[in-house]
Amino acid sequence: MDAASRPAVVIDNGTGYTKMGFAGNVEPCFIIPTVVAVNESVLNQSRTSLKGNWLAQHSAGVMADLDFFIGDEALSRSRSSSTYNLSYPIRQGQVENWDTMERFWQQCIFNYLRCDPEDHYFLLTESPLTAPENREYTGEIMFETFNVPGLYIAVQPVLALAAGYTTSKCEMTGVVVDVGDGATHVVPVADGYVIGSSIKSIPVAGKDVTQFIQQLIRERGEHIPPEDSFEVARKVKEMYCYTCSDIVKEFNKHDREPSRYIKQWTGVKPKTGAPYSCDIGYERFLGPEIFFHPEIYGSDFTTPLPAVIDKCIQSSPIDTRRALYKNIVLSGGSTMFKDFHRRLQRDLKKIVDTRVTGGSRLGGDVKSQPIEVNVVSHPIQRYAVWFGGSVLASTPEFYGACHTKAEYEEYGASICRTNPVFKGMY
Ligand SMILES: Nc1ncnc2c1ncn2[C@@H]1O[C@H](COP(=O)(O)OP(=O)(O)OP(=O)(O)O)[C@@H](O)[C@H]1O
Ligand SMILES: [Mg+2]
Repeated sequence: MDAASRPAVVIDNGTGYTKMGFAGNVEPCFIIPTVVAVNESVLNQSRTSLKGNWLAQHSAGVMADLDFFIGDEALSRSRSSSTYNLSYPIRQGQVENWDTMERFWQQCIFNYLRCDPEDHYFLLTESPLTAPENREYTGEIMFETFNVPGLYIAVQPVLALAAGYTTSKCEMTGVVVDVGDGATHVVPVADGYVIGSSIKSIPVAGKDVTQFIQQLIRERGEHIPPEDSFEVARKVKEMYCYTCSDIVKEFNKHDREPSRYIKQWTGVKPKTGAPYSCDIGYERFLGPEIFFHPEIYGSDFTTPLPAVIDKCIQSSPIDTRRALYKNIVLSGGSTMFKDFHRRLQRDLKKIVDTRVTGGSRLGGDVKSQPIEVNVVSHPIQRYAVWFGGSVLASTPEFYGACHTKAEYEEYGASICRTNPVFKGMY
């Protein structure tokens, strides 16, 4: 059986979480935090106490190479032992540490997916603003270290659009609003091609919502052990937060009857094992509000997400704009807040309608056609990028679009810079 007749491996490496599995599946096999815990003591020992003994030094180096963990296991190792240091290879969607990234992939392939990389084609993903050189590094690691037979590096929002295959029609024209952990990107795509000059990125994403909630809970004087407070804020966010339709009204309602809004959080202090509890109140709707009123979080960035989407579409070619407004697709874990899509659609419609009525007032009796604004929400939003990858990598055209090991050996890593749009995308 050759590699092209086996399911391709699909890995979406995000700043916060990595989604991995096999093409053709509906869900990733694993979703784990993108983090590596490395045992520094073995490395340090090899540098100091074994000086002069190169064999012992070498084997300590090999041990250090083997002694590392990824994902949740890495987090729990670092919590229980100070010898492990955490390293996050991806920051704001970009790989920053290629050494730990390689270790991370190694365990994804051998310990999690438990497959031989020589037997499968690979589909990996990248953020829309990734530099072409980074694709070369990825290619080098995949072809040289793991010896994969074929590789395709897809742009995350294009895959999120392809995830629309679940709904009977798949449009490859639309705006993808990908709100992950470390970055938010608004990306217009026309016929499967990213309109690069109109991409907008926003420095507000899931991690910021968590930090904001952590800060609000602390300011209210709730007693959560400091070493636990970020994780508690994250869990509170994922379990209890929702998007309200009007922040002032929601606050008034909350103040009139706080008991209706309050949820209880109970935990165990990591150091003493003693139980504790705290109240979760207005954080529930204030957290996600930073996408609609970013000024409540910080003064560095103050444009609301709906206005950024509008700017993105307005800067795209005029003949694509109507189709873009009509298909605004959500992707990423931080779009999962209840009613997020409703609020986005309503606020964006307001901006568009104001411009249309303003324009017709200026233009006298010329009446413009109403613009349809449609924010699409679907159940697989959380891992839409991975799912789109799974769908595309199970089409027969995928194998033809991949760079092969033979091509890599003949032409070098630069072939990985471009990854063609292929027929399965339509
Ligand atoms: N139900 C939920 N409600 C709100 N937020 C959630 C929910 N589930 C997950 N998240 C948040 O979504 C974020 C992770 O989303 P995702 O996996 O799309 O990001 P990523 O791909 O790791 O990051 P990026 O795309 O920025 O590189 C985290 O901040 C997580 O807390
Ligand atoms: Mg992502």
